[in-house]
Amino acid sequence: ILVDWKPEMAKKGGYPHYMIKEIYEQPLALKSTFEGLISDETIIEAADLISKKDKIFIAAAGTSYHAGLVTKYFIEKITGRAVYTFISSEYKNIEYLVDNDTAIIVISQSGETIDTIKAMRSSKNRGGVIFAITNVIGSTIGREANYVVPMRAGPEIGVAATKTFLTQVLVGSMLAVNLGKSIGKINETEYNQMINTLSYSPNIVGSSISMTEGIMKKLPERFSSKNSIYFLGRGLGVPLAYEAALKMKEITYIHAEAYPAGESKHGPIALIEKDFPVFFVVTKDTYEEIASNIAEMNARDAYTIALASEEKLENLQPRLTITVPKVDLLLEPYSLIPPIQLLSYYTAVVRGLDPDKPRNLAKTVTVE
Ligand code: AGP
Repeated sequence: ILVDWKPEMAKKGGYPHYMIKEIYEQPLALKSTFEGLISDETIIEAADLISKKDKIFIAAAGTSYHAGLVTKYFIEKITGRAVYTFISSEYKNIEYLVDNDTAIIVISQSGETIDTIKAMRSSKNRGGVIFAITNVIGSTIGREANYVVPMRAGPEIGVAATKTFLTQVLVGSMLAVNLGKSIGKINETEYNQMINTLSYSPNIVGSSISMTEGIMKKLPERFSSKNSIYFLGRGLGVPLAYEAALKMKEITYIHAEAYPAGESKHGPIALIEKDFPVFFVVTKDTYEEIASNIAEMNARDAYTIALASEEKLENLQPRLTITVPKVDLLLEPYSLIPPIQLLSYYTAVVRGLDPDKPRNLAKTVTVE
């Protein structure tokens, strides 16, 4: 897709849109977030305090909610502690569960989302201790939380969250590893190994972008005329599929739906007809089960696409495979998410839309 040069591109670092600039900025955003977390003790102190609480809740909206689900996944996997992640606007349905033995992690890149502010205030009034993961320390959430674990993504102008999503995931994953150490589930050696693994997140994003940008520029021609897409995953792939569907909806206006792949036969597969696009977000530990979900979609003539690392590809039979870097589970979000962001960006451009200013949306939802 050729984008002709315009003077205002200069302020976007030479990119045609802020969104693509911010997708390419992710390695830098992750590097500064990681170095920030390593240099100050905030995250270790926060993990220590959270580990002593009886209940761990996460509250967030939109893309930040998906980062919350990834954080839940890693906290539960590493610590064995249950985490309840809820949509901020639904706080009234859980506030009676909050007491002074509850840690509430609120995730908000702007720190001004009214739904998350209300969830935070309600929890705080009931004695909950608030830990904020935010990109704006001086924001309402940053100021009113008991503790702030900052992202250092830099300002994000595009309405669609990209670099703030992966930096939230990095902070959430680092919190999970530190929680694992605080409660004694992982020893010093395992802790250092996991932190060292996460230090490669910038490199993995860079490799993922260079491995997939070519095909992601071409693939949208196949999607742009579609009016519905499924994004399916299992395990960690489910929140990543949710994020993919949100990106698609909010900047291309194509209806996209995500759900756990195993649910297909419980209803959603009724929508499938010839060439219906079904995108599988395949994490390494879900290959076997997802292979059967791909087969069931192929059997109904769907257009199946697997986003997967090059390992063990032969037993997946999608119509198209997009290969991403083969990495440790902790690094899978940085491998699988960039192509999803590129797909939604290039599909919007092919459809003649402005990815930076999607209709009906504001960068921060400060009113109910
Ligand atoms: C994400 O692409 C959207 N722009 C939106 O869902 C956003 O994530 C949500 O409004 C939460 O914003 P926050 O992180 O600033 O609280």
